[in-house]
Amino acid sequence: MSLAAFPESVHVRAPGKINVYLGVGGRHDDGYHALATVFQAVSLYEDVIATESDDFTLSVSGVDDADSVPVDDRNLAMRAAKMLAAATGFVGGVHLELRKSVPVAGGMGGGSADAAAALVACDVLWGTALPPQRLHELAARLGADVPFALHGGTAVGTGRGDQLNPALARGRFDWVLVTSDEGLSTPEIYARLDEHRAETGSLADDPPLSLDVPIPVLQALRSGDPRSLAASMFNDLEAAALLARPALDEIIKAGLDAGALSGIVSGSGPTIAFLCETPASAEYVQAALRDAGRQALHVHGPVAGARIIA
Ligand code: C5P
Repeated sequence: MSLAAFPESVHVRAPGKINVYLGVGGRHDDGYHALATVFQAVSLYEDVIATESDDFTLSVSGVDDADSVPVDDRNLAMRAAKMLAAATGFVGGVHLELRKSVPVAGGMGGGSADAAAALVACDVLWGTALPPQRLHELAARLGADVPFALHGGTAVGTGRGDQLNPALARGRFDWVLVTSDEGLSTPEIYARLDEHRAETGSLADDPPLSLDVPIPVLQALRSGDPRSLAASMFNDLEAAALLARPALDEIIKAGLDAGALSGIVSGSGPTIAFLCETPASAEYVQAALRDAGRQALHVHGPVAGARIIA
């Protein structure tokens, strides 16, 4: 057994995501909704360092409120490690160190990125060497967004969001993200959408259990033209996120006033993603939002999925 084959520690980086398009259909019996979404991985990353250990432990840094991220089995990265051990018959444990940059409960899939990174890191650390398809299956069991964090890039997600197909995206898109100190709960936002639809009667008769991403969204990604993409971005969860956090509307207006092409709630929120025409205009929008006291980050996409750093 050589040290190279079984390193003592493995460092994996996985990206956060934006849902460029998110259509939500009816609710399946298991509580999950039919989705048609386009994910784009952006240059805001979670770092997971997996180190040999006899038992399963986890530590977290990079968050203001240490209590906001559980370090037990409620943590998706911990569940990912234990699921991989169970699936492969690995006897032993791991210490997972999570260095977080993606906002917690921000609608950018930070917990899913942690889980994807933990799967890849433990698979290398333990030498279990699962084929990609098996890793994808475990990822999908952990959560609807986890397979995308493994793959990265730009992809269409259907089913519960876990059935992925790569989408052709030319060039680079520049985004400004405005984060909030307090997160939103994804299940609560989906529940609010259901309530809102029941109250307003929309989709009441026949909520679709299979959806497609509109062609103009895919064409805009293929063209690499941010103006076309800005015109076709959409999120069904936005109305529910705005009901839960009305102040988000002011943030969207502020970004548009500063020159962003379009602003959208990312996933279930509360992060707002602004698409900008050029890197320079994104710098300008970021500066304007910061001057107004907002937490604004300039990122770009698409970027790669979970990758070994060391
Ligand atoms: O799969 P994940 O754990 O990320 O999902 C969190 C919650 O979001 C689910 O428990 C469910 O309430 C909601 N969800 C949904 N339909 C989906 C994906 C997520 O209702 N397709």
